[in-house]
Amino acid sequence: MQPDLIVRRANLPDGREGVDIVVHEGIIQAVGPEIPAEARQEIDATGRLVTPPFVDSHFHMDATLSLGLPRLNVSGTLLEGIRLWGELKPLLTPEAVAERALAYCDMAVAQGIQVIRSHVDVCDERLVGVEALLEVARKVAPYLELQLVAFPQDGFYRDPNAKANLLRALDKGVGIVGGIPHFERTMEEGRRSVVELCAIAAERDLMVDLHCDETDDPHSRHIETLAHETLRLGLQGRVAGSHLTSMHSMDNYYVSKLLPLIAEAGVAAIANPLVNIVLQGRHDTYPKRRGLTRIPELRAHGIAVAFGHDCVMDPWYALGSGDMLEVAHMAVHAGQLTSLEQMRACFEAVTTVPARIMGLEGYGIEPGAYADLVVLEAHDPIEAIRLKAAGLLVVRRGRVVAET
Ligand code: FE2
Repeated sequence: MQPDLIVRRANLPDGREGVDIVVHEGIIQAVGPEIPAEARQEIDATGRLVTPPFVDSHFHMDATLSLGLPRLNVSGTLLEGIRLWGELKPLLTPEAVAERALAYCDMAVAQGIQVIRSHVDVCDERLVGVEALLEVARKVAPYLELQLVAFPQDGFYRDPNAKANLLRALDKGVGIVGGIPHFERTMEEGRRSVVELCAIAAERDLMVDLHCDETDDPHSRHIETLAHETLRLGLQGRVAGSHLTSMHSMDNYYVSKLLPLIAEAGVAAIANPLVNIVLQGRHDTYPKRRGLTRIPELRAHGIAVAFGHDCVMDPWYALGSGDMLEVAHMAVHAGQLTSLEQMRACFEAVTTVPARIMGLEGYGIEPGAYADLVVLEAHDPIEAIRLKAAGLLVVRRGRVVAET
C-alpha cells in the first residue's frame, strides 16, 4: 500500500525530534524516525513542531463576532455583558447566528483548532442559537467537531422557562448539560440547580459542563456541590467546572479540603484566562484580583485543567482571534506559570488535556489515531506559546485544510 501522506522530520510536543508521520486513509499508520516509504504527498516539517490540533473546551459560538450589537459593554463587567446579550437575543435570527458562527469556524480552523465545545444559550423560547448551531455543527463536521452545551444563561430557576427550554434543547440533540449556579437568585437555588442539572445528565447519560462560580465572591462554592453530586451519581470523568474563579478568592483552609474532593470526583477544571483576567476583579479598587482559578494547585492534586477561549468579539470580550496559543500565553502570565514544566502544561491545556476531558476518540499523534495535525512555525511548545506561532499547515483526516 502506498500511503497518502508522510510528514517528515517533525518535532513532537513530547520532545521527540526528527519524526516521520505516515498517514493513509485519514489514519496515522506509523510514527518514527526515517520511515522508508514513499507517499503520494510529502510535507517537510524539518525542525518544526507538529502537534495534534488545538481543542477549545469553552466557547460561546452563538454570541461570537457580535461585538457592538446592539451596543458596547461600557462597564466591562460580566453582568453588563449578560444584560447586553439579553438585549441582543430577541434581535437574533438563525441566519445571522449561523453566518457569524461559520465565519468564526473558518478563523478557528485556519489557526489549528479542530474541536470546540460551545455553550449555547437556551433561555430563548425560539431556541434560535440551538437551531442555528446544530445546523452549523452538521455543516462544519468534515473539518471541525463542534460539541454543544445547553446553557441556561439567565439562570435555570431564575428564568421560569429555562428548564423546559434546556430539556427541549437536549431533545433536539444538544449533547451536554450546562448551568450557571452563581447567577441563580440565592446560594440555595444555585445549589439546587447543580443537583437537578446533574440528575438530568445522569438520567440521560450525558456529560455536564457548568459555568461554575464565575465570580470573585469567595462564598460561591457551587463547585463543592458539583463534585459531591458527581460522586453521588457516579458521573466521575464526565463532569467539568468551567471558570471556577471564586477559588481565587477563597479561604486557603477551605480550598485545602475542596481540592481533594474535586480530585476524588474526577471533575475537570476549565479556566478561561483571557476572559477571566478581563471580567474578574471589577469590584476591586487596589490591589485588584486576577480572578483566575488556582491552576497549579488543581494540577498538583491530579485534576485535569484545560483552558478555553470563551469569547471572541462579543458582549463580554472585545478582542480574541481564535488563537489558542494566545489563551495559553495569557495563562502563563496571569497564573505565573513560568517553569518549563508549567509552560509545557499550558500547551497541553489547549491540546491533549481538553481532548481527554471532552472524551475525544482517536486524538493524538500515534498509530491508529486520526491524521489531524497542525504544523507550527516553532520548534517546541514553549516557543509556540512565546511567539504565538503561526499555523503553517492544518491537516484534517490526512488532508490539508488550511495553509499559511
Ligand atoms: Fe463562558
